[in-house]
Amino acid sequence: MPLVRVPATTANLGPGFDTLGMALELYDEILVEEAASLDITVTGEGENTIPRGAENIVYRAVRTVYERVGHPQKTFRLHMHNNIPVARGLGSSAAALVGGLLGANAVLGNPLDVSELIEIATAMEGHPDNVAPAILGGLVVAVVNNQKVYYQRLEPPTGLQAVVAIPQFTLSTRAARSVLPANIPLADAVFNVSRVGMLLAAVQANNLELMGKMMEDRLHQPYRLHLVPGMSDVFAAAKEAGALAVTLSGSGPTVIAFCRGIKAKVGEAMVDAFARHGVKAITKALSPCLEGATVL
Ligand code: HSE
Repeated sequence: MPLVRVPATTANLGPGFDTLGMALELYDEILVEEAASLDITVTGEGENTIPRGAENIVYRAVRTVYERVGHPQKTFRLHMHNNIPVARGLGSSAAALVGGLLGANAVLGNPLDVSELIEIATAMEGHPDNVAPAILGGLVVAVVNNQKVYYQRLEPPTGLQAVVAIPQFTLSTRAARSVLPANIPLADAVFNVSRVGMLLAAVQANNLELMGKMMEDRLHQPYRLHLVPGMSDVFAAAKEAGALAVTLSGSGPTVIAFCRGIKAKVGEAMVDAFARHGVKAITKALSPCLEGATVL
């Protein structure tokens, strides 16, 4: 029976809204096997909150693969062992989706290839920037065009280390997208387009310092400020403590600092800044995950 190990992911990387993402060395494990009745169990993160019925994300993903290949099986034993905190901006739902898709595909003898899996995952998630790096590992650029997903995996710059501050409260991606405006000023679009272009050039040139300078954003973070108490101060504290860049991780509420090497004091500074705003948070140092999801 396949056990799929899927990494956490940080989407957007600042300016690359719905386009850029990177896998991180923190994993969920998902087991998929056919069974006479539906049996879903969860341990670790989300063990008291993740639904165990037909709405379970892993189950929906498994069913989607079976339907795609025309297989009638409808009941499975699914087990999720989660290390990725749920609804914090670290790709927990993408990890569940990818685990279900890859697990089902493995049970069926791998009828679907990577690009089909990325397309199904993107359609189910609504954007590719978590699911693509969860599958491919590394830093991924992904573009959706007429339901087709174009993706390119890049090697993260040498020495890049992420430090996250994970608040205790949850924030759903749906809620964090509902505050975004329908239109944005041209100057803000230019601000982001220019930074994404140079950020990718910096990644290709293995220039970590330049990458760090290109991670500011005007498309989504300013509108999400009020959803994450203390966000500006947490950003400032991370910079002050030596981070090269600091952004919301995905739609938040986790804040992620990008550093050269492990910087324990960056994590401590972010946790302290959150505490000054009454938000309890924990910190973790996470290396980029180069492998992507693996079927064990
Ligand atoms: N690009 C998405 C957003 C990522 O910012 O809403 C959600 O994890």
